[in-house]
Amino acid sequence: MTTSADLEWFAEARLGMFVHWGLYSLAARHEWVKNREHMTDAQYAPYFDHFDPDRYNPRAWARTAKDAGAGYVVLTAKHHDGFCLWDSKLTDYTSVNTPFGRDAVAEFVEACRAEGLRVGIYYSLIDWHHDGFPVDGTHPQRDDEEFKAATADRDIRDYQRYLHGQVRELLTGYGQIDYLFFDFSYTHRPDYWGGKGAADWDAENLLCLVRALQPGCIVNDRLGIPGDIVTPEQYQPLKPMERDGAPVAWEACQTLNGSWGYDRDNLDVKSSESLIKLLIDGVAKNGNLLLNVGPDGRGRIDRTAQRTFDDIAAWMDDHARSIHGAGAAPWQAPNDARYTLRGDRLYVHLFSWPFKHLHLPGLAGKVRYAQLMSDASELVPLHIDPNRQAQNTLMGGLPDGTLTLQLPVQRPETPVPVIELFLTETP
Ligand code: GLC
Repeated sequence: MTTSADLEWFAEARLGMFVHWGLYSLAARHEWVKNREHMTDAQYAPYFDHFDPDRYNPRAWARTAKDAGAGYVVLTAKHHDGFCLWDSKLTDYTSVNTPFGRDAVAEFVEACRAEGLRVGIYYSLIDWHHDGFPVDGTHPQRDDEEFKAATADRDIRDYQRYLHGQVRELLTGYGQIDYLFFDFSYTHRPDYWGGKGAADWDAENLLCLVRALQPGCIVNDRLGIPGDIVTPEQYQPLKPMERDGAPVAWEACQTLNGSWGYDRDNLDVKSSESLIKLLIDGVAKNGNLLLNVGPDGRGRIDRTAQRTFDDIAAWMDDHARSIHGAGAAPWQAPNDARYTLRGDRLYVHLFSWPFKHLHLPGLAGKVRYAQLMSDASELVPLHIDPNRQAQNTLMGGLPDGTLTLQLPVQRPETPVPVIELFLTETP
């Protein structure tokens, strides 16, 4: 199917913020808690009864995203547990019917727009609450023989109607939605998972519905049929991604600690530096990073996560122009470095700081000016005098066409120093 999805803002943004937030934030032990602990609806009900996030302030989330240089935010309007953060007319299982009593999606959308951010909605295809969803390998009661027998006559078409109806609600009730993140199909595991996929979602028609309601909306690739972008989960591809031999827009989603939902006792926190490197590595391969945060049961981003985003904000404040709208360069970067290219600027991101000299093969004669981004100090190229004889000053072994820059001994105090090269022409 042809698409008129607007991928321009997406490539410009390069960084987005993913928000996993819902009833599981109260359990505070991973968003799959209902599945992991084989909970029944009754056992999961206390989270619905006590959902009262008194500090819900999506404007603060949006500001955190914006300060970090993100261009969009994606909120879990419904996750696998089936709980809806908007005022859906198709179920009572919504935030409006909890003590909270509000339409969280409406407030979220408004907050993003107020901060000038693009709006993304995550919608789980899997649903562990709806009574038309046939029990499968992901279902919390997958091993409960009595429950399975009692629900054996469930007809996926009942769920399909609900799914299409809810997507229609989300795409008609909240103005322009820029990005829809469906999650997920698993036909590759028919044995264990029950193998739900495109046919179960009536994916072709669902996609047509999205295109008809919001032609510009970007749709991800987890409906079980190709979408506008590819979404590697928690891994970095080796090179720019392709589909059927042609370049395709992609976005890696990543957690801060391995869990998407708020996970109080999880200390597997990734360093800000490693996440900044992840972002850079993606841009160097024409990709985006959708970095997740799991706000807590009161609706707040916890201190550790906030610190991480603040660190990213500080780095982006100095280096955003090597990220926004940048992409892969046609040269091979030196060891432990990544190139990004935007127009006639080539950015060298140094994951480790070389001693005094930086050798850039293939760039001799192609650079008219070089500077360190942290302080705009000029980096002077090393001119090798071919008439000098002493072996140890000839920089022997460098391939022809190598540009060598002289670096200060002291590494700038930033997680990843960046050199900006002004090219003689746009490659
Ligand atoms: C997986 C998980 C889910 C998470 C998502 C993010 O599909 O099931 O919990 O929301 O990845 O991409």
